[in-house]
Amino acid sequence: MLSQNQIAAELAARQKSFSLSRNLYCDPGVYQADLEHVWYREWLFALPACALQKAGDYQTVQVGAYPVIVVKGGDGRIRAFHNVCRHRGQRLCSKVSGNAPKLVCPYHQWTYELDGKLLFARDMGDGFDASKYGLKKVHCVDLSGIIYICLAEVPPPIAELAKAAGAYLAPSGLADAKVAFTSTIIENGNWKLVIENNRECYHCGGAHPSLCRTYSDNPKMTAMDGPNSASPDILAHWQRCEAAGLPSRFVNHPQMQWRLARIPLLNNAESYTMSTKAAVSRRMGQMPFNDAGSLLMFHYPNTWNHFLADHAIVFRMLPVSPTETEVTTFWLVNKEATEGVDYDLKTLTEVWLATNDEDRQVVEENQAGIRSPAYEPGPYSPLQEEGVIQFTDWYCAVMAGRLASQPVQAAE
Ligand code: FES
Ligand SMILES: [Fe+2]
Repeated sequence: MLSQNQIAAELAARQKSFSLSRNLYCDPGVYQADLEHVWYREWLFALPACALQKAGDYQTVQVGAYPVIVVKGGDGRIRAFHNVCRHRGQRLCSKVSGNAPKLVCPYHQWTYELDGKLLFARDMGDGFDASKYGLKKVHCVDLSGIIYICLAEVPPPIAELAKAAGAYLAPSGLADAKVAFTSTIIENGNWKLVIENNRECYHCGGAHPSLCRTYSDNPKMTAMDGPNSASPDILAHWQRCEAAGLPSRFVNHPQMQWRLARIPLLNNAESYTMSTKAAVSRRMGQMPFNDAGSLLMFHYPNTWNHFLADHAIVFRMLPVSPTETEVTTFWLVNKEATEGVDYDLKTLTEVWLATNDEDRQVVEENQAGIRSPAYEPGPYSPLQEEGVIQFTDWYCAVMAGRLASQPVQAAE
């Protein structure tokens, strides 16, 4: 298990635009450092706001060692708390999701309001001050229908993302959407391999026959050329969409932690379906036409999303161990759409269920190869894997900076 100094040395020795060292994908010390310096400090996508429709609806997420509960209050506000009872530390809610009028600890029934206040604790004596034992808060923001949480005491700024997401996501009407389907899978690979695989389509032609019916694997389609991309196809798509009120041009975080861009699908396809036609007959929000393509949004370290005219697919990734990663996919449709009438669940989900499984397989084989002592970092394609280069640059810069600001450890 590497020490923080050894991790800093591996990062410093990295060859730029090459895949990372074996340790950076496998080592338990690196995994722990990733949790401490990335996962416990950055804003993380938790769930779509529409997953919590009524007061008392909750979902739980596990971020490294931290169990967290995200719950909708009686005032309609969504809040996040450490899912840990203030009495003797029992995990309050063990289920992935549910509804509760109050949060009652299963151990000794301490009872909390949905806003985290301790309402009731039996036989605690006269001097007991319940106001001191509310649930501990986790930072929580609703970015136009997408709930982000942050475990840091002082979270990083999010105003820029909030502004961009506000403009780009507004036409999708996420507040008037519902979750049509959720899938959770475990991929036997390090979380960075899952992100790296997501950030390129070099593998798409070989791995994703159903996705490639509608999604172009041309790297220029999602290249980082910025808001004045020269590709005529993309420019024409942006002009048409923007004239119809859909912000579309690339907008990036200065260090590329996130990006939004609306890209056309292949041959005017409408949706990620086997037929290429819309899966849902009621469009999302104010989307003006079916072939608006996909609004792509990623935010490191844990989410990528596709917002289409007829539905949205939002992905949440959470690390489970050095070589295991949980990937949850939410399919969102217009709240007014009725299953069996306006959409068929199989048609809606089959392409991305298959794609997720195909990605799981490539990530697991990637991890299996990297475990070998014979593995050595290989070069990324500058044309096809620009997004991976950009992710690994972001990761290494963040880690190197944060490790350098740690107190110096004794040499081993
Ligand atoms: S640990 Fe929760 S009530 Fe005792
Ligand atoms: Fe893929």
